[in-house]
Amino acid sequence: MELIKGTDIEIKVSDITVCYDDEGVGEIPIILVHGFPFNKESWKPQFDFLKLTNRVIAYDIRGFGKSTSGKDQFSIHLFADDLIGLMDALQIHKAIICGLSMGGYIALNAIHRYAERFEALILMDTQCNSDTAEGRKKRFDTIENIEANGLVDYASNSVKNLFCKRSFDAHPEIIEEIKQTILHTPVSTVTNTLRALAERSESCPFLSEISHFTMILCGREDAITPIDKAEFLKAGIKNSTLHIIEDAGHLSGLENHEIVNEHLLKFVTNTLARF
Ligand code: MLT
Repeated sequence: MELIKGTDIEIKVSDITVCYDDEGVGEIPIILVHGFPFNKESWKPQFDFLKLTNRVIAYDIRGFGKSTSGKDQFSIHLFADDLIGLMDALQIHKAIICGLSMGGYIALNAIHRYAERFEALILMDTQCNSDTAEGRKKRFDTIENIEANGLVDYASNSVKNLFCKRSFDAHPEIIEEIKQTILHTPVSTVTNTLRALAERSESCPFLSEISHFTMILCGREDAITPIDKAEFLKAGIKNSTLHIIEDAGHLSGLENHEIVNEHLLKFVTNTLARF
């Protein structure tokens, strides 16, 4: 099959259509997995930068952006299977995987079950823990609230927690864009994914099995997956480095893209130089 390069390409993966961007050149691509409840556009500063030197792919997780939902019940496990399905469909044997927050949960799930499909791992603003009982209850309360009232309050409350203080003054346009992304996500995608997040299993017991070179990035003011979660990942994964991103909250790649891009390029270049 002739593979197309460009943006907003659609491809069949099991029972869904996945929409993805694929640009740049390189034998081992970097695959960017977005957080919740965003889509592949949230990787734009990284995608546009990395495509100048490497092959880079960003895709919409099922139900998000322009990918279809399918019929299966959402789970992190299913999302990880979709990632492998996308790699199979694109004939990618090995990739450098980079996941932000929920994207990190997916990357950790996939690398545990399909270690040989990945050359290296990048974890941004994420954790290996599952939800506490309190966190789970909060997800189910949020689902009830969204089902009764829609996404408007949810979107406004979400952005308050996603960004560092400085971003509200320095990057109001980014905050507005993320708010619009949340508002345009189908309600069923948001509620089904909240259920999937509440029910996800812990990846912490498997950290010691990860032998891949790993880079962990975390925004200094990340209130959702704070620095102690990143330090726990660093302590558990043997070949790992951790960088704290200043002037950033949970969405470090948008809030301080220059520094994040610098770290990504350096890590990817060093990883690929080993061949
Ligand atoms: C995300 O950014 O993907 C979410 O904050 C993850 C979560 O809610 O656990």
